Amino acid sequence: MITVLGLAGSPRRNGNTDLLLEQSLAGAASLGARTEKVVLGDLAIHPCRHCDGCIETGICVIKDDMQSLHAKLRTADRLVLASPLFFMSVTAQAKLAIDRCQALWAEKYLLNIRRTLASDGSRRRGLFLSVGGLRRTDLFDPARATVRAFFATCDVAYADELLFPGIDSKGAIKEHLAALQDAFTAGCRLAVSG
Ligand SMILES: Cc1cc2nc3c(=O)[nH]c(=O)nc-3n(C[C@H](O)[C@H](O)[C@H](O)COP(=O)(O)O)c2cc1C
Repeated sequence: MITVLGLAGSPRRNGNTDLLLEQSLAGAASLGARTEKVVLGDLAIHPCRHCDGCIETGICVIKDDMQSLHAKLRTADRLVLASPLFFMSVTAQAKLAIDRCQALWAEKYLLNIRRTLASDGSRRRGLFLSVGGLRRTDLFDPARATVRAFFATCDVAYADELLFPGIDSKGAIKEHLAALQDAFTAGCRLAVSG
């Protein structure tokens, strides 16, 4: 069974990206995937100290909720990161977790331990869901670069993205019916093998 880990990066419960994430997980579940949603803001995650404690082991020396998240990131077949734009990047809640993946970066790039395959033998794949209040053509470029680096570090292919500009007030995404449907469909695509 395909497992899908969804990371909610917004501090707003039932906010725009949270709704998109719920839809994508519902889509994956509708095709039999086992889904789990982690609200990053609910976790106690300290910032990376750049102590280089992970360099020789791939294990972070800071003991907090990131340990269990590392375990999930190492084993999930699919990954969904949902974060709105905050000052052109992902939220602080998401970035805290991403920076702490320096331990996975050391594991992959220094220790050459790779986790490229999902439980069904396919490449692990990821989906980035985001919204921003502004409307600019290059709006999502900085956040996309961050998430691409995060996915690569987790050995997850950056397979799909749904990015919606001009979405600002809480729940505004609900007026954009195609967006929620698109998120459901993207979740279905994640659940498919291969
Ligand atoms: C601290 C902060 C910074 C923001 N920075 C940006 C930004 O750089 N670009 C943008 O388009 N929207 C920005 N926004 C607007 C949010 O991306 C927007 O309200 C979004 O719909 C929130 O999504 P959510 O409901 O999933 O939290 C910012 C909002 C906050 C609170």
